[in-house]
Amino acid sequence: MKTEENTKVIPEKDNSEKNTTVSLDRRRDVSKNPLCLSGKGVTRVFGFGAKQMTAVDHVDFEFREGELVSIVGESGSGKTTLSKMLLGLLAPSEGQIYFRGQPRDISTRAKKKEYWKNIQAIFQDPFSSFNVFNKIDTVLLDCINMTGGKSLSMEKKTEMMTEACSFVNLKFAELTNKYPFELSGGQMQRLMIARIFLLKPKILLADEPTSMIDACSRATILDMLLNLRDEIGMTVIFITHDIGLAYYISDTVYIMEHGKFVEHGSADEVILTPKAAYTKRLISDVPKIHEPWDLSTVE
Ligand SMILES: Nc1ncnc2c1ncn2[C@@H]1O[C@H](COP(=O)(O)OP(=O)(O)OP(=O)(O)O)[C@@H](O)[C@H]1O
Ligand SMILES: [Mg+2]
Repeated sequence: MKTEENTKVIPEKDNSEKNTTVSLDRRRDVSKNPLCLSGKGVTRVFGFGAKQMTAVDHVDFEFREGELVSIVGESGSGKTTLSKMLLGLLAPSEGQIYFRGQPRDISTRAKKKEYWKNIQAIFQDPFSSFNVFNKIDTVLLDCINMTGGKSLSMEKKTEMMTEACSFVNLKFAELTNKYPFELSGGQMQRLMIARIFLLKPKILLADEPTSMIDACSRATILDMLLNLRDEIGMTVIFITHDIGLAYYISDTVYIMEHGKFVEHGSADEVILTPKAAYTKRLISDVPKIHEPWDLSTVE
């Protein structure tokens, strides 16, 4: 039975959200924007015979220009496998991916390189994303050179690198001559966003980009990503376990279970009126800070 002592009331949602600049008014209605990346029946099977497993199972999706989409699912649901197919690093076993409404053709090295100009990724582990033998200046200079800035003066290039670093609260002057492994995990993730600032891709795929940083830096990183989305109008595909986070930042949410999309729609639709049992479970797993804690079963 519940008593005064064993029921602790946790205060109403605190004001910490107000202290961060990540808020719901950043959402956009993108339903009329042109298609950016879409897919029909996209499937990936690993292994053969008895060991065969379907990591991504006939998924359909439509991501529009400037849309912030979250793909939410538990560990092993197929999120990274789908990301790799979107990036063109892994071929689908079945199905078709479309880029700007046309079947995506990355059948030759040249076509693949052309496609990669449009899509960039931030991974779970930032340490695996850089060539450890390249100094940070080289990492950033490569971005400028790759986007047609090769012939710019060194002065102009330094100005661009300084601007990109200050966009993510890093000081370029302190980073010159350092190697990526000399940075902290959080600095490294910010450096990855500085790269995106310089590359200005059409699509950014972010696979749990905030997993290595504390809650405060996490809000800042998300805010940077949202600013960048507003500034360049890029499509952001955000991969996460965290349905609460997906709700706060996304226009659209896709819920993935055992390789399938079990539900998708606007963030409000999916999270405030979930239909699939799996979505309901993900939501119920989020700690409810506005409800009293029932400690009646605690000895
Ligand atoms: N190269 C591979 N060979 C065989 N099986 C694989 C391979 N890559 C992934 N899998 C399997 O596919 C399934 C989906 O894996 P995936 O990495 O896509 O999940 P995820 O949703 O990204 O998980 P997490 O949230 O833990 O990152 C898992 O069962 C995994 O073991
Ligand atoms: Mg993953």
